[in-house]
Amino acid sequence: MTTWRAHAKAMLDRVLARGVRVSPGWRAAFLAVPRHVFVPRFYQDAGGRLDGVVDAADPRWMWEVYADLPLVTRRRRVPLPGGGDGYVATSSSSQPTVIAVMLGLLGAEPGMSVLEIGTGTGYHAALLCHRLGEGQVTSIDLDPELVDEARARLAAIDYRPELRSGDGSAGVADRAPFDRIVVTCAVDDFPPAWIAQLTLGGRLVAPLVEGGALTVLTKTAPDRLEGRVDEECAFFMPLRSTLDADRTERHIWRQAVPEHAGTPPGVPVEALGDLDFRLWLSLTVRHVQFAHEPGTPPLPVGRGDEPVDPEQVRAAWEAFVAAGRPDRTHYGVTVTPTGGWIWLDERKWALPL
Ligand SMILES: C[S@@+](CC[C@H](N)C(=O)[O-])C[C@H]1O[C@@H](n2cnc3c(N)ncnc32)[C@H](O)[C@@H]1O
Repeated sequence: MTTWRAHAKAMLDRVLARGVRVSPGWRAAFLAVPRHVFVPRFYQDAGGRLDGVVDAADPRWMWEVYADLPLVTRRRRVPLPGGGDGYVATSSSSQPTVIAVMLGLLGAEPGMSVLEIGTGTGYHAALLCHRLGEGQVTSIDLDPELVDEARARLAAIDYRPELRSGDGSAGVADRAPFDRIVVTCAVDDFPPAWIAQLTLGGRLVAPLVEGGALTVLTKTAPDRLEGRVDEECAFFMPLRSTLDADRTERHIWRQAVPEHAGTPPGVPVEALGDLDFRLWLSLTVRHVQFAHEPGTPPLPVGRGDEPVDPEQVRAAWEAFVAAGRPDRTHYGVTVTPTGGWIWLDERKWALPL
């Protein structure tokens, strides 16, 4: 029988085979932390429906837990834009490859303190505990049940980081300052508390709700973060704000994609598979969302009440080509407590997205 350690080794090998650079310290963490303890069950994502449960009783469970996949662990029933009901994911264990990329960008070293926004299953927090020591790790999730479960799982492998339940937008003031902040849900803005709670010179890594952009920001002044978008993509579920329910609903609902009519006319298939165009399109045609059908590139579609005009997509593609098909590493990000923006040469998009 294959032991979990052999599975963990195979999972790390898959991450490395994708070309992700993982330092020896983080390799040791991936080999030492049993992911199956943190994912005792997950929802099957076939066709995005999330309607099957896979747990220890299922022979696929152990294999899939270590297959370098994102695994949805919490779901919510919502009305779908095209009618009827369906599930959207509200928590998951992120894909190990994406975790490895984010840990690499975070550059957290032993002795540093880290705040994680989005505890989820607790797996990422466990990796941080292994490398940095449990006393250096603080993690917060909006969902108190998830926090309780994560606390029990972490304790089962002898880690006791500081876990909190609440809106991570406020950070965790009584544990600040942090040398590093890692956000494991997608954001449309950077709350002032994160700026305030980061040490000067400290680093924040966060995915954006648009285009899978993974931002890496440094605190360059007491009231300023400056950074860039990384070459790697990271698609995360949105941060749910307790202060702005409408904004949260908009982002959650965007995950439930309506029926669509196929490729917009005049838009080359090449455009749809281009992740840099997807970021450009998301920033320039603001209500765009993407439908994923197995075997086809993601298709830009609108919200149920606001379809995307194919003409806008075609015009955006032409503008993207005319601008020299800028890749995502050309985007910069500037954040201050009173506002921020994403920029690309002379173009600027204000936050929140
Ligand atoms: C992709 S999951 C995090 C995965 C986690 N890091 C792990 O290793 O399992 C995103 C998490 O963000 C949490 N979340 C969403 N909005 C939040 C908020 N405002 N504050 C804190 N956590 C939030 C969700 O409840 C969810 O558990």
